[in-house]
Amino acid sequence: MKEIIENVKLVENAPLEEPDRQYYFMEKAKEYVAKMSEELGRPLVAVIQTFGCQMNARDSEKLLGILEKIGYVEGTDEETADFVIYNTCTVRENANLRVYGRLGQLGAMKKKNPHKMIALCGCMMQEPEVVEKLKKSYCFVDLIFGTHNIYKFAELLTSAMQSDRTVIDIWKDTDKIVEDLPVERKYPFKSGVNIMFGCNNFCSYCIVPYVRGRERSRDPKAIIREIERLVADGVVEVMLLGQNVNSYGKNLEEPMTFAQLLQEIEKIEGLERIRFMTSHPKDLSDELIEVMSKSKKICKHLHLPVQSGSSRILKLMNRHYDKEQYLALAEKIRKAVPDISLTTDIIVGFPGETEEDFQETLDVVRKVRYDSAFTFIYSKRTGTPAAVMKDQISEDVVKDRFNRLLHEVQTISAEQCAIHEGTVQTVLVECVNEHDNHLMTGRMSNNLLVHFPGDESLIGQLVDVHLDECKGFYYMGRLENH
Ligand code: SAH
Ligand code: SF4
Ligand code: F3S
Repeated sequence: MKEIIENVKLVENAPLEEPDRQYYFMEKAKEYVAKMSEELGRPLVAVIQTFGCQMNARDSEKLLGILEKIGYVEGTDEETADFVIYNTCTVRENANLRVYGRLGQLGAMKKKNPHKMIALCGCMMQEPEVVEKLKKSYCFVDLIFGTHNIYKFAELLTSAMQSDRTVIDIWKDTDKIVEDLPVERKYPFKSGVNIMFGCNNFCSYCIVPYVRGRERSRDPKAIIREIERLVADGVVEVMLLGQNVNSYGKNLEEPMTFAQLLQEIEKIEGLERIRFMTSHPKDLSDELIEVMSKSKKICKHLHLPVQSGSSRILKLMNRHYDKEQYLALAEKIRKAVPDISLTTDIIVGFPGETEEDFQETLDVVRKVRYDSAFTFIYSKRTGTPAAVMKDQISEDVVKDRFNRLLHEVQTISAEQCAIHEGTVQTVLVECVNEHDNHLMTGRMSNNLLVHFPGDESLIGQLVDVHLDECKGFYYMGRLENH
């Protein structure tokens, strides 16, 4: 069994300042990778599996940026890879269970190929009982780190390479934001951009504030600088990321609102489209609605998680708005930005939810007419207030409600989608269609997809497409003027 080193501090002549310190360790790790790859007579391959939300996806791009800098090439096959990283999610229990299942298989692969390195990071690692379980039953893992010290990846990896013990480094929280580390984007033409980290809302069902720490906003100058660089590198669309973007800037030395930040970003020449997520209804300001209505670049899409339509349940969820306030907000937005697409997240089966509460949720769905909705079965997360609430709902009742909700949501979103048939929309061409390589796939401002005949040279361009036929939740179309 492997010994464990916790909270590593490498005693070397490394610079103490960040990001210089990490660049120093990237050089160290590069030497190791070069040596190994000479021995093997081929480049070393790394595979990153990302679970969870867009925050994690962006974190994985940062990990890949560092891996490529030190000489790894990106691969897809876990079996043959020299290094496998799981960037984990714990928002619902099934996300968690999937990781354990796959980790078992990874252990078997490592037995056959002992030089294979395995690292685990992300939200699950912030839960002490998870790390205990890993120490006990998955001792073949080489490196475990959390969400707060991801910027230290090069340093941690170097110590894992130098050691035959499991390196574990988990921080409870941080107030630190390290800028200017390498990133390897998945798409050349669009990119996520973190504008804030953490969450202070403590919705009673949610584990995110416990695993992502307190809310911290990035300095607006650093955000603008990052986007300017991305644009210079070919990016035309950014997705601003935060658990509650509407509370951006409150704790900055010079406070700034999210709406003000958006106006600054809008000025960046060459940037064509701005998206953001997620918006908490309680903090969505009139200022933001006005900025959205006037903007030429902000996309016509707002993800506005409702969670439940019952005011009683919303109170138990600690969401700080009720059904009427939410409906009034949705109406105000639709009035100010008539062609906006509204999407949402809904949880069914929160403790104590009655059939009447559930009917309130269906009522909101019918009234708002969401363009799409992510529906979730409530999952009990240890340590959250809801986990110890009375009246946890039985599985068959929840499943029945879930199916009824899904049916309602899908019927309405198909009707909403069809509204645009026959119109011409500007789309950002993203990729070749997975099933038919004569077709290209593009995304409209309202986030709907359209497939149309075209070729690869269009990828990354904004083109006008005629929407010929709605297929439920996507369109078939053709290039306008072709
Ligand atoms: N910060 C975002 C949501 C992040 S988590 C917001 O507040 O809107 C994404 C979604 O997961 C949530 O909107 C919620 O619908 C769902 N979710 C979070 N915790 C959950 C739980 N314990 N059980 C089921 N769904 C959950
Ligand atoms: Fe979770 Fe609520 Fe924070 Fe969203 S706002 S991450 S649901 S606690
Ligand atoms: Fe999951 Fe963490 Fe995102 S728990 S949803 S990956 S913030």
